[in-house]
Amino acid sequence: MALIKMLHVVVQALSIYMASPLSLTQQEKGINLMHIESRPSRLNNQEFEFFISVDTSYSKSLEEVIDGLRTEISGHVHELSRNKQKDTVPWFPNDIQDLDRFANQILSYGSELDSDHPGFTDPVYRTRRKEFADIAYNYRHGQVIPKVEYTAEEKATWSTVFNELKTLYPTHACREHNRVFPLLEQYCGYRQDNIPQLEDISRYLQSCTGFRLRPVAGLLSSRDFLAGLAFRVFHSTQYIRHQSKPMYTPEPDICHELLGHVPLFADPTFAQFSQEIGLASLGAPDEYIERLATVYWFTVEFGLCKQGSEIKAYGAGLLSSFGELKYCLTDKPKIQPFDPAKTSLQKYPITEFQPVYFVAESFDDAKERVRRFADTIPRPFSVRYNAYTQSIEVLDNTQQLRNLADNIRGEIGILCNALRKME
Ligand SMILES: [Fe+2]
Repeated sequence: MALIKMLHVVVQALSIYMASPLSLTQQEKGINLMHIESRPSRLNNQEFEFFISVDTSYSKSLEEVIDGLRTEISGHVHELSRNKQKDTVPWFPNDIQDLDRFANQILSYGSELDSDHPGFTDPVYRTRRKEFADIAYNYRHGQVIPKVEYTAEEKATWSTVFNELKTLYPTHACREHNRVFPLLEQYCGYRQDNIPQLEDISRYLQSCTGFRLRPVAGLLSSRDFLAGLAFRVFHSTQYIRHQSKPMYTPEPDICHELLGHVPLFADPTFAQFSQEIGLASLGAPDEYIERLATVYWFTVEFGLCKQGSEIKAYGAGLLSSFGELKYCLTDKPKIQPFDPAKTSLQKYPITEFQPVYFVAESFDDAKERVRRFADTIPRPFSVRYNAYTQSIEVLDNTQQLRNLADNIRGEIGILCNALRKME
């Protein structure tokens, strides 16, 4: 079975396409058409995109048909997979709206708590969690994230966490975190008596790095969560931990997202680094998704980095945990250099302080290392994020490469011009 996505088939050519290739596939070429879907192209309202599934018992004929589509009607053809048993590429989102599909693919709903969760026996807390889960479940890309009126109890929990952590940041957090934090206080309502709103933060992040937040109803699979990063989308919780234990949470909550993750997503190099992990995950085999999720764990969640002669924390799991933020910079844990090939195989506990941390030389260095690691992932194509169309370009045909070369030529022209003017 082969899955083919044809992009931007010009509508005038449809009659040729419908008459010719279909008859080619069914009669002359002996290929069975199993499934066909069409939708208007988002890039040009006179064009359509088709998703076609065919039986490829005669693969040589398939090559001829694909060549024909590319040359006779100038269609952009992406072959998503061939020979399902051996090399099927797992589905991945092509454009940012495809992330809406994840809303219905959560592993557990946000209001379902484990029996050892501090809020397990609190019916008020559980009802509240359902309200947050429903907001996320009904959210679709492009909508404004609904604002939440947090209760006095919820604000008190936030206040405790905020005040405690803020005392540690100057000495324990990386300089990027400390640079952004005052800006979040200035522009996004970060205060000890106020829980900032996701929508305000998302807008601010977009203006800094193009990153945006998206509310999430429950736990996503690693594959789906990492795919969001490829689009510079971070799936964020909106609820807060239970008030009985303000300094403890068994799961991500808004304190973790806003104090741990958000400041770093406002940093351009870190944003690029995070996106790199996401891009590497698209269409990757399951074992590599697990390895990339481990890389994510030891960097975005629990990463340390060198800054001058010191080591500082940049992982969100550290920057949102008073106890572990202090512990990670003591001589108790083991410290190793960040190397994705090795780091991605490291086992880790999720309910206690990490026994091992990995130190990055810099975000730039970490990004390059993730890129090199991504090259080792068996995938029959390369991908690139097009920020203008907010979609993933699968670089598997000459037309795509030509478009990329044109873009690079344009950028180099701008660079040369700017250099000339400075001379
Ligand atoms: Fe996190």
